[in-house]
Amino acid sequence: MMESFERFGLIINDTIVRTPVALASMAGIVDADYVLARAPHVGAAFIGGYSIDDTTMEAARAIAGAGDRKEFLYDDPVPELTNQMNKMKGSDVVLGLNLRGSTPGAFGAIAEALGDSVVYEIDAHCRQKPMIDAGCGEFFLTHPQELCNVVRTLKGAGVTVSVKMRAGVAADDRLLAKKLWGAGADILHVDLMDFGIAKLRQIRNSCPLMLIANNSITSFDAAKEMFSHGADLVSLARKADTRTLAGLDAAITRYTDEQGWYNSPKQLCRGGDIRALTFCCMPVKDCPLIPTLKRTGMTKEEFLALKMSAAKNTQLEGGQHTCFGSLVWCCKMSSPCMFRDMTIQQEGLTSKEYMRLKRELSETIMSRVFHDVPHDDAG
Ligand SMILES: Cc1cc2nc3c(=O)[nH]c(=O)nc-3n(C[C@H](O)[C@H](O)[C@H](O)COP(=O)(O)O)c2cc1C
Ligand code: SF4
Ligand code: SF4
Repeated sequence: MMESFERFGLIINDTIVRTPVALASMAGIVDADYVLARAPHVGAAFIGGYSIDDTTMEAARAIAGAGDRKEFLYDDPVPELTNQMNKMKGSDVVLGLNLRGSTPGAFGAIAEALGDSVVYEIDAHCRQKPMIDAGCGEFFLTHPQELCNVVRTLKGAGVTVSVKMRAGVAADDRLLAKKLWGAGADILHVDLMDFGIAKLRQIRNSCPLMLIANNSITSFDAAKEMFSHGADLVSLARKADTRTLAGLDAAITRYTDEQGWYNSPKQLCRGGDIRALTFCCMPVKDCPLIPTLKRTGMTKEEFLALKMSAAKNTQLEGGQHTCFGSLVWCCKMSSPCMFRDMTIQQEGLTSKEYMRLKRELSETIMSRVFHDVPHDDAG
C-alpha cells in the first residue's frame, strides 16, 4: 500500500486509498458483495443507500412497493450494516455507508452503534418523492441548515463524513460547500449532472475538502478532465462494470507513473482551478491571476512572499535562466519550455519529481487560501 500512497498520496478515514476510483451507491444494488466483485479495481466504495430510521425505512418500502426501483429492505439497520461491514473486513477498499435518515439523531445513533471504521455518507442526493417527504435525500440540499446539523452530529461522534449531493439543486453550490466545510464535513461527493467541470471548479475554489466527482465518468479522458479541474477521486455507479473500472484504474496508474501528479490542475489561464496558482508566473502582468488573487483575499505581495518562502531551500528555488529567475514561477510540464527543462536537468530533477514539488507547493498555497474555516452558524 505504500506504493499507492507514493503514487496518489490519498488517505480517507486514516486508510491509504489504492486508486482514485470509487464506487457510488445505487439503492438495492451496491452492497458488500457487489463491491468485493470489483475490489481489485477500486480504492473506495459507498454502499447503499441504506435507510436508518422508521421514517426512511417506510419511504424505502413505498419506493420498492411502487415497483420500478430496488431498495435495501430490513427491519433493523444495525445488524444489516454490521453484516455488510463484516463482509468487507480484510478488503483494502475504503468503505463508506450511504445513509438516508430523517433526523440528526438517527445518524448519530447509527454512528455510535457502528463505530469509526467506515465513512458516513449522508445521502443528500435521492430525488424519490417518498425520501424527500421523509426529510432526507434532496430535501437536505434545499434545507442546508438541517444538512449541517447532521454533519455536526456525525462529527460529534468522531467519524469521517461525506456528503453526497447533486449539483444545481441547492440555491448556491459554492455557498453550500463552504457551509459544509464550516460544519466539519470531510468529503463532498458531487453528482455533477450536466454541469461538468465548470461546477466542479467552482466547488474546488470554494473549499479545501476532498472532492469526489461523479456522473458519466466512464473513460480515462473524462476522469482526467475531472482530475485537472479539482477532483481527488472519481466515482461510478451505472457503468461500474469490471471492464470499465479496470481500464480506468490502469490508465490512471500509468499516467501517474509517467507524469507524477495524477490530478494536476490545468494552468489558471487555461481554465484551471485554484491549485493552479502553483504554476503561475510572478504577478507582473494583467492576466487571470490578478482577479483570482483578489477572490482569495491575497495581495500580489503576499502571493509573491508565499511562493518564495515555500520554495526556499527546495529544488524549486533555483532557475536563474527561467522567465522569473526561479522554478517556483514555472509552468506545468505539459507546456513545452527548454529553459525550465534545462534547469530541471541541472537541478538533478526528473520531470516527475518537478511535478511532485509543484504538488507540494500547491498544498501549501491551498492551506494559505483556505486558512480561515468559515464561521459555523450552528442553530
Ligand atoms: C438505480 C440507482 C440508484 C441510486 N441510488 C442512490 C442512493 O441510494 N444514494 C445516492 O447517493 N445515490 C444514488 N444513486 C446515484 C448514483 O450514485 C450516481 O450519483 C448517479 O447514478 C450518477 O453517476 P453515474 O453516471 O456513474 O451513474 C443511484 C443511481 C441509480 C442509477
Ligand atoms: S500568472 Fe501566468 S500562468 Fe498564471 S494566469 Fe497569468 S499568465 Fe497564466
Ligand atoms: S521559463 Fe518556461 S516554464 Fe518557466 S515561466 Fe518561463 S515559459 Fe514558463
